[in-house]
Amino acid sequence: MIAKDQAPLLQVQNLTQSFKIGKKIVPVLKDVSLTLHAGETLGIGGESGCGKSTLAKAILQLPPPTSGQVYFNGINLSKLSFKQLQAQRCHMQIIFQHPGQSFNPLFTVKQILAEPFVLQHKRNLIKAQIPYLLELVGLEQQLLDRYPHELSGGQKQRIAIARALALNPKLLICDEPFSALDSSTQLKIMQLFTFLQKELKLSYLLISHDLAALKNFTHRLAILYLGQIVETGPSEQVCRFPAHPYTQALIAAAPIADPKKEREKAPLSLLKEKCSLPNSSSGCPFQARCPYQMEKCQQVKPALKELLPSQFAACHLNEKTNHF
Ligand SMILES: Nc1ncnc2c1ncn2[C@@H]1O[C@H](COP(=O)(O)OP(=O)(O)OP(=O)(O)O)[C@@H](O)[C@H]1O
Ligand SMILES: [Mg+2]
Repeated sequence: MIAKDQAPLLQVQNLTQSFKIGKKIVPVLKDVSLTLHAGETLGIGGESGCGKSTLAKAILQLPPPTSGQVYFNGINLSKLSFKQLQAQRCHMQIIFQHPGQSFNPLFTVKQILAEPFVLQHKRNLIKAQIPYLLELVGLEQQLLDRYPHELSGGQKQRIAIARALALNPKLLICDEPFSALDSSTQLKIMQLFTFLQKELKLSYLLISHDLAALKNFTHRLAILYLGQIVETGPSEQVCRFPAHPYTQALIAAAPIADPKKEREKAPLSLLKEKCSLPNSSSGCPFQARCPYQMEKCQQVKPALKELLPSQFAACHLNEKTNHF
């Protein structure tokens, strides 16, 4: 159940993350704000390079954002000392984009699962917790002596989930958890996430470029384009009535589950151009690829506006015509 009557578990306010690339300081995320309630799953969608992983890491202060605030359970993470931040990190864990690569190849599954307890000086919990964690993610105890290269993709993902759950977090950030898996394994991992959410009252920030997967598994969605949120709202609603031309194009590009169903005509060509870093020019960040570009789009950057209940999009088109 989503605890909407309580203060949000995670609140990101006007987060900007810039990196030095060559001689330039380039903003990879610009003014990103979002909230996540306890028990909720928020999906972050967008093309490769739009800043999804950077956002996940900036929330965890890896590294801290250039500007903006991240509140976790009401605590401003940027105001914490290193030690206080380490303590908070137990409550918010990340499963990195390529789970297998984040394992030490010389460690057995047992050693991989023991790592969080060792790092947090909780060695006394190892003996009881490791069998419990394996059971929680649906793996057999025989796997404990195996090395990462002896595991399937699905098993690796389950071990990554088990390791992330070791310290009993409230928030799990999952960066592309399905991308390396076949569709039936994807479904099993989604079912595992749903089970764990009910069992452990977890909240998820789920990052994926696959809008079909996000739609089925998240309560709300935020669509990133060049490091900025261009649309956000309840997942089903956003996928049925996408307001931003970029969201429309992403949905048009998503695979259709039912082959008999015909795809609606959509500006697929929009997705031909690669996502690149944000530029500093004025106006709408999507203008160069938008089939509906107007004069105003070159001059004024559109703000996020509520178009349907709880659904916001940053597009001038919606100011002129209500195209629902
Ligand atoms: N530490 C860094 N230094 C410089 N540039 C970076 C750094 N981290 C990320 N970037 C740049 O920021 C942009 C966003 O990268 P990010 O990894 O967040 O994208 P993404 O949306 O997760 O992509 P993908 O779907 O391929 O995983 C990219 O252009 C990337 O090159
Ligand atoms: Mg990424």
